[in-house]
Amino acid sequence: MILSPLHRLSFHPEENGLGRTSGIGTPPAPEKNRERTGKTTCESVDSEENHEKRPAPVVGRKPNGKSQIKYKGDLMNDQATLQLDGKVYQLPTVTGAEGERAVDISSLRDTTGYITLDDGYANTGACKSAITFIDGEKGILRYRGIPIEELAVKSSFVETAYLIINGKLPTHQELKGFSDLLTQNENLHENMKYHFEGFPPSSHPMAILSAMINATGCFYPGWNGLPNSQQFAEQSARLISQVRTIAAFSYRKSRGLPFIYAKPDYKYTANFLHMMFSSPYQDYDLKPEVVRALDLIFLLHADHEQNCSTSTVRMVASSEANLFASAAAGVCALWGPLHGGANQAVISMLQQIHDSGDDGHAFIAAAKDKHSGKRLMGFGHRVYKHYDPRAKIIKESCDQLLHSLHREDPLLDIAKKLESAALHDSYFVERKLYPNVDFYSGIIMRAIGIPTEMFTVMFAIGRMPGWIANFKEILDQPHKRICRPRQIYIGPVAARYLPIDQRL
Ligand code: CMC
Repeated sequence: MILSPLHRLSFHPEENGLGRTSGIGTPPAPEKNRERTGKTTCESVDSEENHEKRPAPVVGRKPNGKSQIKYKGDLMNDQATLQLDGKVYQLPTVTGAEGERAVDISSLRDTTGYITLDDGYANTGACKSAITFIDGEKGILRYRGIPIEELAVKSSFVETAYLIINGKLPTHQELKGFSDLLTQNENLHENMKYHFEGFPPSSHPMAILSAMINATGCFYPGWNGLPNSQQFAEQSARLISQVRTIAAFSYRKSRGLPFIYAKPDYKYTANFLHMMFSSPYQDYDLKPEVVRALDLIFLLHADHEQNCSTSTVRMVASSEANLFASAAAGVCALWGPLHGGANQAVISMLQQIHDSGDDGHAFIAAAKDKHSGKRLMGFGHRVYKHYDPRAKIIKESCDQLLHSLHREDPLLDIAKKLESAALHDSYFVERKLYPNVDFYSGIIMRAIGIPTEMFTVMFAIGRMPGWIANFKEILDQPHKRICRPRQIYIGPVAARYLPIDQRL
């Protein structure tokens, strides 16, 4: 590593506060027909010393009321030096609002002929985003700068949805306007009901959800193509509002129960529970602690930066597909057990442990054995190398809800034993595997009476504001570019078509 400062520049953050790119010139063009030695080094010139000199960002307020990120004083202008095939290239670096750093390789292929290879995108920043900040090492999660712990106590899902989509907390009037728009859009188009008839009773609700979200768009004029700001506000309200109607209807259909329509005077989460559990002649008894616990689950799932489903939404949106198609794709990506499907998998795992009479020790041993095909579901995270802050909040909420409902759940006892055993086991400690958001959320949903196969649908309802905000970031990009990664091809080299009678 060569560690030396190259330039000193005064720093001008971008107006939009999405992070700043250092203004470094184009790297030198590569020599033609250079010999590929394969010898490659990449040296960051941002030394520890320089990093320590980086002033802490100060969030200020412009006269127009919009927040801006300011840095006190000058900032070392960081460059990475890349040595490839005997040539040296300088690559610009980007620093985010919280000091996280990236090497900007957008000109790498043009200038060097190389691409980067990053299994699972674990080191790839796919975008600049102003929505959510996570520090996985410290267990920090913030929506638009506000800590999740504060939102969990002080906010509601609808208010948080507004914050995530619009980038600011709403005033009374803005919140009322947003709530009214959700209410106006809560009913599905009547003809949508016939679509539910086509699904066999065994259909997974995530399949129905994805199909019906995509179908929703077809029922409204202006749904295709890029929306203007008013169309976007309507489309996003329709999506947030109707996703819970679709979810409730698909549950009712799977049980052979009549559909229950939303009540305009109920709030978002209460209305969802009403559509799920009321009957035509008797309204569901809405217990405030149950409504609050589910609202909290939605809020805690509302966004989580560039995870698998959100990246999918951005990818689809980058082709200029509409909001409904992009969100439907997000539902499919979320469904898998390594992502949102983990909440369903956790309950199946806990139930299996319970039914087998194991206290969790045999399962922990199996989860550590790479040949068993088992993992401790609800544990581990690509970004968190610390306790997931959402899991901490959910665990407390779980205890409170069961206490206030005077319920006991043997699966909660097993979950707590598993957690304690794992947190004292060197396998999990060394790999920094902690409970994630899905570990305790299923116990809450079970207590509410939500069937296990609907758990991932709850995640999808909660995640809708995050997907919408990410869709909007793609929409608002000044220089729109389709997302299109490259690959290293490892298949057969150029071959000829062999007539069928000559093939062995
Ligand atoms: N149980 C046992 N071992 C695990 C687990 C687990 N839950 N998670 C990771 N490991 C091991 C893994 O085998 C590997 O070991 P080694 O280094 O010896 O090969 C090491 O830990 C690193 O795992 P990885 O698979 O490379 O990590 P990743 O970042 O690719 O995967 C994950 C992250 C969440 C997919 C993974 O931890 C996992 O499968 N967890 C269980 C499923 C789960 O709970 N998913 C929900 C995630 S949170 C909700 C969301 O946002 O999606």
